This record gives sequence, C-alpha cells and structure tokens, in this order.
Amino acid sequence: MIILKNDIDLSGLREAARIASAALRLAGSMVREGVSAEDVDEAVRDFIYSHGAEPSFLNYEVEDKIYRWSTCISINNEIVHGLPLRSKVFRAPMLVKVDVGVYKDGYHADTAWTFALGEVPPRMRTLMRATKEALYRAIEEARPGNRISDITYAIYRTARRYGFHPAETVTGHGVGIELHEDPIIPNNPRDLDRDGRIKPRMTLAIEPMINVGTEKVITLPDGWTIVTADGSWSAHYEHTIYVGEDGPEILTEDIDG
Ligand code: MF3
Ligand code: CO
Ligand code: CO
Repeated sequence: MIILKNDIDLSGLREAARIASAALRLAGSMVREGVSAEDVDEAVRDFIYSHGAEPSFLNYEVEDKIYRWSTCISINNEIVHGLPLRSKVFRAPMLVKVDVGVYKDGYHADTAWTFALGEVPPRMRTLMRATKEALYRAIEEARPGNRISDITYAIYRTARRYGFHPAETVTGHGVGIELHEDPIIPNNPRDLDRDGRIKPRMTLAIEPMINVGTEKVITLPDGWTIVTADGSWSAHYEHTIYVGEDGPEILTEDIDG
C-alpha cells in the first residue's frame, strides 16, 4: 500500500531529513585513516539521540533477523548493509558508503553517501560521479504522470553510459511512516515487476547502487552484507524526496556540494 503524505507529514519528514543529513555529514567527517566503522556508528547514534530522534535502523527487523546498529557502513566491494564493526578500519585508498536512517516524531528519513579515502583510482572517482549523476537523473524522473520504471531506467541508462552496472536485487522504496514503504524502486530493470504511476504526495527514498564489473550480487554469511559477485567496487547515494505537483523536492541534503 502506498501512503501519500499530507502537509503535516511533510513537515515531520523535513525535520527527520534535516537531522539525517547532518548525521551523514558527521559520518563523512570521520572517514579518516585508522577510524573504525564502529566509531562512526556510535557517533552517529549519539548525534541522532541528542537531536531528540532515534536511529531508524537500530533493532529494525528484516525477514526474522534484527539489525543491531544505527548505520550501515559498506566499504569497497560491499554494496549495502555492511556492518559497522570495530574490525572494519578505514585504510586509504578506500570507498566508504555510509547509510543513515532517522526517526523523529513519527517520521523516517533515509540517506546515504559515498566517501573516498585517499587516492582512489580514477575509475573509482568516475564510479562515484556516475552514481551521483544517476541519483539526480533518477530524482528528475520522480514527477506525477511518470512511472516508477522511469526512475529505474534513469539509473540503468546512466550506469551503462559509463560502462558500469546497476546492482541487481537492491532497491529504493517509499519512506516516511515506515522506513520501507511501497512502492519498491528497482535499481536494475531486470527486477521490475509491478510498475506503477508516480503520484503527487509520494515520499520516496531513491538510492542507486552501481558496480564497476557486474550487476551480480552475493550476500555474505553474516546475513546482511551484500557484495559484488566479482569483487569489483560499488558506490551508493540516497536521498529522501517528496513528489510535488510540479516535480520532485529533495528533503535530505547534498553532502559534498
Ligand atoms: N539502508 C537501507 C535502505 O536504505 C535500510 C537498512 S535496513 C537495516 O533502505 F536493517 F539494514 F538497517
Ligand atoms: Co538508506
Ligand atoms: Co533506503
């Protein structure tokens, strides 16, 4: 069921989105040599609580597993749902993808960003640029009258233009009252199932995840971390947006300009 949002919902979402963006910016400032993913997770968790909000991911249940952290931190070949463990220490060159969800006064916002540590190879800089471009092109498609598949194809076309591959199985989603609401928004056209019209007052989390070498993915034995099947690197950017009558409005904020 798709939940359309009224103006009261929208102002709640704006506040959650503002805190989520600030938390993500804090996370980005901690992506330095020798810092661990656990350090970032704890700092983000404390930051969210200090703003009278809760981490959306903490104790979130997916298919009878419970997630025990406040962020997902995925490095290099990890696409999404990487665990923010003490043993995951940042070492250049590295791509660090941080995903944050904030629950404030009844509303969830969800946002993610890719941070480069040190001199990552030029092709990986291109991967970051392509994935961010895919995010903004996908958002442009999120307007009344278009279809969900228009978002998917914008991500697909952008990835392919650079010779990259949108990850299979992982998706964007409606967001707001729940962390994950309908509709599902595939990153890869092969995952398109039931398409639907985009309507005013939808709120969506659009989140391209794009891999260098293959669309194929594998889930690690930890049950959470999704990695590329070929070990190639991946990038991820996510905004929470509102579909206005005249087009999309981004509620979360760009992190690096
Ligand atoms: N970060 C995911 C998203 O953007 C959701 C994480 S759910 C968790 O949709 F259980 F892993 F926390
Ligand atoms: Co997210
Ligand atoms: Co999301």
